[in-house]
Amino acid sequence: MPTTKALLTKGAERLEAAGISEAALNCAWLLAHLLKTDRLSMLADGGALVPAGIVADFEKLLSRKAEGEPLAYILGSQPFCGLSLKVDHRVLVPRPETEELVGLAVDFILKSRRGGAPAILDFGAGSGAIALALARRFPAAAVTAAEKSRGALACAEENARALDLAGRMKFLKISSVSDCGGPFDLIVSNPPYIPTGVIAGLDKEVLSEPRLALDGGADGLVVAREIIAAAPTALKKGGALLLELGDTQGPLALKLLDEKVWKERQVIKDLNGKQRFVKAIKK
Ligand SMILES: C[S@@+](CC[C@H](N)C(=O)[O-])C[C@H]1O[C@@H](n2cnc3c(N)ncnc32)[C@H](O)[C@@H]1O
Repeated sequence: MPTTKALLTKGAERLEAAGISEAALNCAWLLAHLLKTDRLSMLADGGALVPAGIVADFEKLLSRKAEGEPLAYILGSQPFCGLSLKVDHRVLVPRPETEELVGLAVDFILKSRRGGAPAILDFGAGSGAIALALARRFPAAAVTAAEKSRGALACAEENARALDLAGRMKFLKISSVSDCGGPFDLIVSNPPYIPTGVIAGLDKEVLSEPRLALDGGADGLVVAREIIAAAPTALKKGGALLLELGDTQGPLALKLLDEKVWKERQVIKDLNGKQRFVKAIKK
């Protein structure tokens, strides 16, 4: 029987040869997952012997990773804002930047004194990440998760049930903000924003995520433009629109926000200093 250390070394070499970044880290996640332990305990006991069945399963997971499948799909879950979310090929893997978007949403709700029972729309909910984090944070909130993809919406509902949040959330299979009801105190969205022409050149890993979650049309702003056009009717006075976009798109999105309708229009940087979030308040 090989030791965990020997397996990890061999696995990392294999992933490195396949051009996978953070090969050793990926290996450690995969083996710890199969051993049903945490990475730290596993690494602290590098001499432990690994049974043949686990070795065979590890080889299979390494093959999937070497093919460029996202780690979160292989593990079946992704941490997000303190929640563990089920993720698979139906949904985008929630990103750390989107946790910052949730932070901006929380900040708005708290500072605007809408802490009572705010009505929140997460448009393009995917795994439900944003909607679920906000429903968990604000137990009295009425949170609607809207999504065009039937598969993604089903995943969001599965996550809501697993987190015991489904009873106080609404799930809509819908492709336009104007069909989502309202009026809302907050519309938050991480829409698809990658320009169509850029998609083919993306990493294999990103390309295994749903096209509908990535493709934002010719300039990347097609869905964002639709949201911005429909948001004024769907928001209450003083309500906020919060969008996550690509780091060059903020100024373009600001131009779409009519100053007769919106105040406090701004682009907000993420923790890496990239201009990623757009915020505006309805007058
Ligand atoms: C970038 S993903 C974001 C998913 C999730 N909110 C997150 O942050 O992880 C965009 C999501 O919007 C959905 N979507 C794309 N176009 C849409 C539309 N017109 N109406 C509703 N949802 C849409 C996609 O299916 C995808 O789940």
